[in-house]
Amino acid sequence: MPNTAIDIKRQPLTEKNTWWKNAVGYQIYPRSFKDSNHDGIGDLNGIRQKLPYLKELGIDFLWINPIYASPNADNGYDISDYQAIHEDFGTMDDFQSLLQEAHALNLKIIMDLVVNHTSDQHPWFLESRKSLDNPYRDYYHWADATPEQLPNDWQSFFGGSTWTYDEPTKQAYFHVFAKEQPDLNWTNPKVRHEIYQMIRWWLELGIDGFRIDAISHIQKEPWDFKITDNPWAPFMNVTGIESYLAELKAIFNEYNVMTVGEASGVPHSEASAWTGDHGYFNMIFELEHCQRVGEQGSQKGSIHHLKHSLNQWQTSLATDGWNALYLENHDTPRSVSVYGDHSPEAAKALATVLLLMKGTPFIYQGQELGMTNYPFNSIKELDAADTIHFYQTLLAEGTPAKEALTIAVNWSRDHSRTPFQWDDSPFGGFSTVTPWLNVNKNYQTINAVQKDQDKNSIFHHYQRLIRLRKETDALIHGEFTLLFPDHPTVFSYTRTTETESWLILVQLDRELTAITFPDSWELSDWEEVLANTACKALQHEMMLSDYEAHVYRKVLN
Ligand code: GLC
Ligand code: CA
Repeated sequence: MPNTAIDIKRQPLTEKNTWWKNAVGYQIYPRSFKDSNHDGIGDLNGIRQKLPYLKELGIDFLWINPIYASPNADNGYDISDYQAIHEDFGTMDDFQSLLQEAHALNLKIIMDLVVNHTSDQHPWFLESRKSLDNPYRDYYHWADATPEQLPNDWQSFFGGSTWTYDEPTKQAYFHVFAKEQPDLNWTNPKVRHEIYQMIRWWLELGIDGFRIDAISHIQKEPWDFKITDNPWAPFMNVTGIESYLAELKAIFNEYNVMTVGEASGVPHSEASAWTGDHGYFNMIFELEHCQRVGEQGSQKGSIHHLKHSLNQWQTSLATDGWNALYLENHDTPRSVSVYGDHSPEAAKALATVLLLMKGTPFIYQGQELGMTNYPFNSIKELDAADTIHFYQTLLAEGTPAKEALTIAVNWSRDHSRTPFQWDDSPFGGFSTVTPWLNVNKNYQTINAVQKDQDKNSIFHHYQRLIRLRKETDALIHGEFTLLFPDHPTVFSYTRTTETESWLILVQLDRELTAITFPDSWELSDWEEVLANTACKALQHEMMLSDYEAHVYRKVLN
């Protein structure tokens, strides 16, 4: 473990030091970003090579998915050594070089912090399994069981029981994800102490913050808790979690770093409690807005749900707390396929909606190029264990194979994990050899080189939006108000301060539709600032179609 901590001059902790409010983040799934050493797997030096590209886009910080030692049962989310870099990605020296180079370019780096569980190959778990009185036994959750009789009927996120029977000690251990990801026992102060030491170690290295994985699951209900409607209720934001989160917060505050918690199961009504002045994190990734609504087997997401859910979060955090804004990540399909029709207009329309809301936007790698879902034709093309498990469950239930494949892959997280499309050379310029997951077949038309050939590219649209946000206080702090709430496809809102107001008007559909502004609106005051199509003056009766997106500004007083 290197002890060559990088000397970073940190700003003193003041209430005003909230750089992340003005910042735009970019999420890197390292396995699929850029392969620098020709083994088909993206790596740290690959990220380093591409820092100028990220700088050109205009982002301020990177969130990098787990790069730690891991047997990869869940692609790095099963960590076997928190303080070692996975050899697929490089070395600790490579990481330090990346951090230094990023900082030199004024790009910050936040890391994934996975502390709900470890790998079953982590030395703590290997010890824990050995005997009932092993000093590490209580680092995890164990309970009496037989292979036939598990401690309860709780279900894991990846399918099947949350319990795995373990022969050596004739008990079962608990896991909310895969059986290779045993949950740490947060009630044990020794576990918390070890985790906090590890967190400090990374912070001492000079990183700029954490995205905290699955953090709403660290507290569990008593094992005799009975499930009623929500199968995951026994480990979703369970009372008692507050004290652990407060301990974490105290450490983060000491270092004055940025934090974003992945807070599945935290409803918007608790948004300020989690992120406000007295909250635990600067912001959280909520999962309500990207929940599947609609038919099983359909790849389309509901615009109406998206809009209403995001509105609830905007409203809940209007005065206390802060939003993390995203449409895609490594667990979701591609937004241009789910909420659009795979077209560049749709990608730009979605970007406009996302980047001008109140909160810190996170762009997922490739989103800025309009990368689309992958046309999976066979289960063999998939890597994600949860999708494969879902497919097998459907088959076992008697669903015909073709239909099972469609249902299972529609919302698979592998859509967003295909390699980044850098250019039109074989394997999309991601690697010179066959990559770990197929490159999308559309790499010859959708790629990063393409952006320079078209000044209206999706990439350039993102650039403009990012720049606009940065220059405009109202787009950072202005009040958010949703317009046309009942319209099924028009996503429109205003952002207003005392001195100016901005109007975002987007049709998230190809159909022609009519909207009507109230007579009381003085429409001639608005000036158009940005669009993904020809400009259009505001009118009381307006027709919108084809994913058109317009941004207007009005000076007040
Ligand atoms: C989070 C991650 C996901 C991972 C899971 C278990 O939800 O985003 O990719 O599988 O936690 O760590
Ligand atoms: Ca590599």
